[in-house]
Amino acid sequence: MKTGEKNCVSDKIKIAIAGMGNVTSTLIKGLEFYKNSVEGLWHPKIAGLTLNDIAISTVFDIDSSKVGKKIGQLIADHKTSFSDVSIQPGMMLDAVPAHISQNGQIKSSNYEEFVKSLKSIKPDFLVSVISSGLDKTSEKYSEAALDAGCSFFNATSAKTVTDKMRKAFENKGLIILGDDLMSQFGGTAFHRGMIDFMTSRGIRVQKAYQLDVGGNQDTMNTMAEETREKKRNIKTESIAIETTYPFKSTAGTTEYAEQLGDSRVSYYWMEAKGFLGSTIEMDLSLRTNDSTNGCNVIVDSLRAAKYVLAKKDLAKVDTISAYAFKNPTKKMHIRECIKLFEDVFAT
Ligand SMILES: NC(=O)c1ccc[n+]([C@@H]2O[C@H](COP(=O)([O-])OP(=O)(O)OC[C@H]3O[C@@H](n4cnc5c(N)ncnc54)[C@H](O)[C@@H]3O)[C@@H](O)[C@H]2O)c1
Repeated sequence: MKTGEKNCVSDKIKIAIAGMGNVTSTLIKGLEFYKNSVEGLWHPKIAGLTLNDIAISTVFDIDSSKVGKKIGQLIADHKTSFSDVSIQPGMMLDAVPAHISQNGQIKSSNYEEFVKSLKSIKPDFLVSVISSGLDKTSEKYSEAALDAGCSFFNATSAKTVTDKMRKAFENKGLIILGDDLMSQFGGTAFHRGMIDFMTSRGIRVQKAYQLDVGGNQDTMNTMAEETREKKRNIKTESIAIETTYPFKSTAGTTEYAEQLGDSRVSYYWMEAKGFLGSTIEMDLSLRTNDSTNGCNVIVDSLRAAKYVLAKKDLAKVDTISAYAFKNPTKKMHIRECIKLFEDVFAT
């Protein structure tokens, strides 16, 4: 631990990841790229830590075409210092997603085997970036992290952060962060930012919608009706944080379009009222890249979480979760949580 420096720690962050998909591949490429650059990084230093301080110990997946391979074989077009890390079998407690069952079999381990392998790795965090819609599996991963003695980070929309789990993690000096990653400049963050600005200018929002169309695997998985409905509720509730009054709002994934690849287009429409009830109408679209959009938030919150653990200042978890997730325990305005996060952790 560094001494004498405010808000700084110097220990490496050791992570295990569940899910060797788009986000993980992009994160691995980012960890390599940011060894020698800060271009495109939101916060080059958090709690005195750079991206060089994040080390991937192992990755778990259940897709038999990935398990047993090394990262270097799966990301063959990019050099990475994690190329020798092997993909190990993860757990699966839900129905297997269509894309995996179409390709063949799954390779998984049972709970005891999984906890044992996690214990042998001793990561600081188990980061879950598994496919959307696997709620029972996500819960099991959080339990396994707790049993193995590591903190848990849930990027998926599954509800893993409950009061009970939070207390259980805290009793062991650990933390649980989630749920549902909020991308840096994705559909939800941008929507919230627009409403925040209108509200700050005295404009009253009346009705709004956000229709997301994407072309990656995660969008395809989200199209399953139950998952789509659940994610729509999370996004709509996240947006509602920005006003003190209710307004008619719908936000969520509406279509999968393969030709968009890893990008996502959000179509927004808003109607608001100003002086003498005059109408203000907004109609616009935002196109972003999905996996890159999530990575700044992941690397920021992992570094902040490491600080919180090192300083045993677990109450600050609320700030990290409000900054990084659409469905945090303590809800804050987007402007407020970014300011609070930077005040506490940016160095
Ligand atoms: N900006 C973003 O990309 C963003 C934002 C918010 C939330 N998320 C969430 O992050 C998660 C990952 O996104 P992605 O684009 O990388 O998805 P993806 O579909 O590309 O990858 C998911 C990976 O998880 C693996 N997997 C499935 N079940 C598993 C299990 N039981 N154990 C271990 N691995 C398993 C799949 O085989 C695949 O390799 C999704 O739940 C997504 O909704 C992403």
